[in-house]
Amino acid sequence: MTSGRSSPKDPKARIEALREESRGGGGPERVEAQHAKGKLTARERLELLLDPASFEEIDAFVRHRCHDFGMEKQRSPGDGVVTGHGRIHGRRVFAFSQDFTILGGSLSETNARKITKIMDLALKIGCPIIGLNDSGGARIQEGVASLGGYAEIFLRNTLASGVVPQISAVLGPCAGGAVYSPAITDFIFMVERTSYMYVTGPNVVKTVTGEEVDHETLGGAAAHNQKSGVAHFLASDDAACLEKIRRLLAYLPDNNLADPPRAPSSDPADRSVPELDAIVPPDPGKSYDMKEVVHRVVDGGEFFEVHEHFAMNILVGFARLDGRTIGIVANQPAVLAGTLDIDSSLKAARFIRFCDCFNIPIITFEDVPGFLPGIDQEHRGIIRNGAKLLYAYCEATVPKITFITRKAYGGAYDVMSSKHIRGDLNYAWPTAEIAVMGPKGAVEIIFKKKIASAGDPAAEEEKLVEEYREKFANPLVAAERGYIDDVILPRETRSRLAAALALLSNKRESNPPKKHGNIPL
Ligand code: HXC
Repeated sequence: MTSGRSSPKDPKARIEALREESRGGGGPERVEAQHAKGKLTARERLELLLDPASFEEIDAFVRHRCHDFGMEKQRSPGDGVVTGHGRIHGRRVFAFSQDFTILGGSLSETNARKITKIMDLALKIGCPIIGLNDSGGARIQEGVASLGGYAEIFLRNTLASGVVPQISAVLGPCAGGAVYSPAITDFIFMVERTSYMYVTGPNVVKTVTGEEVDHETLGGAAAHNQKSGVAHFLASDDAACLEKIRRLLAYLPDNNLADPPRAPSSDPADRSVPELDAIVPPDPGKSYDMKEVVHRVVDGGEFFEVHEHFAMNILVGFARLDGRTIGIVANQPAVLAGTLDIDSSLKAARFIRFCDCFNIPIITFEDVPGFLPGIDQEHRGIIRNGAKLLYAYCEATVPKITFITRKAYGGAYDVMSSKHIRGDLNYAWPTAEIAVMGPKGAVEIIFKKKIASAGDPAAEEEKLVEEYREKFANPLVAAERGYIDDVILPRETRSRLAAALALLSNKRESNPPKKHGNIPL
């Protein structure tokens, strides 16, 4: 992988030879080692990511200029990253793919310039940026020059945020500050067993804290998909990961000034969904699977779930309705009774903000008994974190349509895209219960003395709970005030949603001019 090879004298042949050298990465042995780890090479990945023969490379001849530590003998054309543009489903995207077979895919000054060059182009043109990361981090031999390179990438990630979709796949190591570029982007994909992300690896952890941990446990795909929430998608191998990125792109617009692509749908927009009429159990203490509601409502039952393995008490993801992209946020009564806690608030807030950046209507399915009580939640900041969800819903100006399927209690009623925070169309099923709190809790507080002084306190409480349920645990009080626009049969959900989306397709709403808001971080 050096430039010391003898080159043909004819310029055309010389260029072709250089191209060949660049295409070969770090050479057959290193390519074999890459394959042996279960990983594809940088170029193989681009081939799978992009439409066939659509990739146009930029900067294949770039080499680093470092002369320390014998680096002048290791100047591969391309310098460890393949950059350029191509198409996904016929639409232009920019991509970079780090080549672990050349100096461990480490980031040099020149290699960073290649990446920032395509980021600048993508931003000017308004196309998504996809980064395929597989790198030992900053190129150690270059010192601060490579650190500067990272900072240049971070800056562009930040400037591009909310302008073009940015997607990161972590397909190998991603350590040190290198994790922060993916972290600023919109979505992170990881692959089981071959990818990991951490700020400091197991050795540093052991030295500093004494904890013994392996790469996988510390920063593997499972850890970041299930526990930290750093990653949004989990794939079984590189090919599955790249295919999933293609699927995600199908829902997204090219940039913040474009509408998401509308796909032809063979699923009738006015399809009735009678199965939904019986999905909410008569006993309010019993749960059901909100995912089933989502699947039955959306086109072809296809729900592209984001953060599937994290904070499962809320569901977020993309789907289509009458061919239009929609973003779904749904409480999941089957997990933690659908309560809002810190993780689910963060998960939904970030998703809502993404949808709002990129003109994707937000559809909320609501069944939430409230915020999760507890010392742990309070001390870790459910107030600060729950406020993020509230803020995200309040500031969003894309069409917002809400269906209350059952519980809408307390602060959670306000938060989940209520009318009061600019919900455009708010519907309730007849099973909706909209009140400050559940009947039992409410009665225990407001009738404490009455119950205590009753001859039969249990019977008295039961009677009062029933009265309260009759009065408040239904959608009519809210409907009387116009806080919900209509009470609909569950079977009508799909057709009403399709009509609402069509109605709101020209919605225009804006927030007061300002530099930016101050979301409670
Ligand atoms: C230069 C590097 C490199 C790096 C790996 N290589 N990382 N070269 N700079 N950062 C080279 C190795 O020397 C080796 O070259 C080849 O890449 C393959 O590496 P191996 O170690 O043989 O591979 P493997 O066993 O798979 O281990 C991969 C690894 C390990 C876990 C990534 O290489 C590693 O720990 N690298 C250093 C990670 C690190 O600490 N990076 C700095 C993070 S700090 P040869 O020629 O011997 O095959 C950072 C700051 C960013 O990134 C700051 C932003 C704010």
